[in-house]
Amino acid sequence: MKIYHTLFLVLLFLGCKMNTEKEASQVGSAYRNQVQNPALKKSMERGGLLYSDFCMQCHLANGFGVPGSFPPLANSDWLRDKRTESIHAVKFGQKGKITVNEIPYDGYMAPMGLSDEEVADVMNYVMNSWGNSQKKMVTPQEVKAVEK
Ligand code: HEC
Repeated sequence: MKIYHTLFLVLLFLGCKMNTEKEASQVGSAYRNQVQNPALKKSMERGGLLYSDFCMQCHLANGFGVPGSFPPLANSDWLRDKRTESIHAVKFGQKGKITVNEIPYDGYMAPMGLSDEEVADVMNYVMNSWGNSQKKMVTPQEVKAVEK
């Protein structure tokens, strides 16, 4: 009986250890990804400042937003899957019904009058913060090409 007990504890311990190691390597790889691309890092730095000035009051510092009123950016399926629409939303504003992480929103986000470069920077910040990660960096050219 006792041997099973011990075995159980050992397995439990190994299970936990494996999980933490996996999480640590995921965080680590996201971090390395940013450091390897100095242009992205610079853009994210500028984007972080813009985020505090223009976005944080609604989407909050942790990107969680307010469920039902302001949609989240952290782990947002909309932001992850709708790249062009997300750029469009920040460039021209966003209103009407959308569903983010299975929660419906029917609100209004006014356009903030950012330049194409600023939109690119703030997009790079939100797309690579709070565990979000996008392989392709947003450039001012890409923002310019998104039309009303
Ligand atoms: C005054 C509050 C407010 C501010 C400020 C604001 N947003 Fe929003 N945002 C909203 C609302 C409300 C929606 C959803 C609109 C709708 O229901 O169609 C939204 C939607 C979005 C979406 C698409 C949905 C999602 O969550 O993925 C993105 C991306 C986004 N905002 C990014 C930003 C960025 C980047 C900034 C700063 C440059 C910003 N927002 C500033 C209120 C705001």
